[in-house]
Amino acid sequence: MAGRSEFAVVELEAVPSDLVTAARQAFGNAYAPYSRFGVGAALRAGDVVYLGANVENASFGLTRCAEQSAVQALVTAGGRTFDEMVVYTESAEPSSPCGACRQVLAEFAPDARVYLVNHRGAALSTTVSELLPGGFDSSKLPS
Ligand code: THU
Repeated sequence: MAGRSEFAVVELEAVPSDLVTAARQAFGNAYAPYSRFGVGAALRAGDVVYLGANVENASFGLTRCAEQSAVQALVTAGGRTFDEMVVYTESAEPSSPCGACRQVLAEFAPDARVYLVNHRGAALSTTVSELLPGGFDSSKLPS
């Protein structure tokens, strides 16, 4: 919603600048010829940063979001959790992770901080648990 956000507005200086740079770099690699809406994500796990970009497909439903791509990179490298993530877009307002991404983030890092940043330097700060209150998790599965 233009001009309003359910997330805390923060100064860009409050967002880890290396993650912003990394997420912008990932944005540059986004494959979004259909929506023309590139998204870059960077997450920090310990002292390692993993990148993700959205990857679309002519079969539209096969699109993979940037946040999920970053989690795939983390897990492929052997990681199982992360500390913080930056999502970078060149949209009028910072872009919020979709519902499916929220579920994927919550699987690995419910306590992680998530910064939403755009090319104009607007920045929002939230957490995975704030993004997905009351989500489904493995505790609901039969043991
Ligand atoms: N997209 C993401 O990468 N992350 C989100 O959380 C929301 C949407 C991508 C998917 C698609 O390539 C484009 O943005 C437009 O929906």
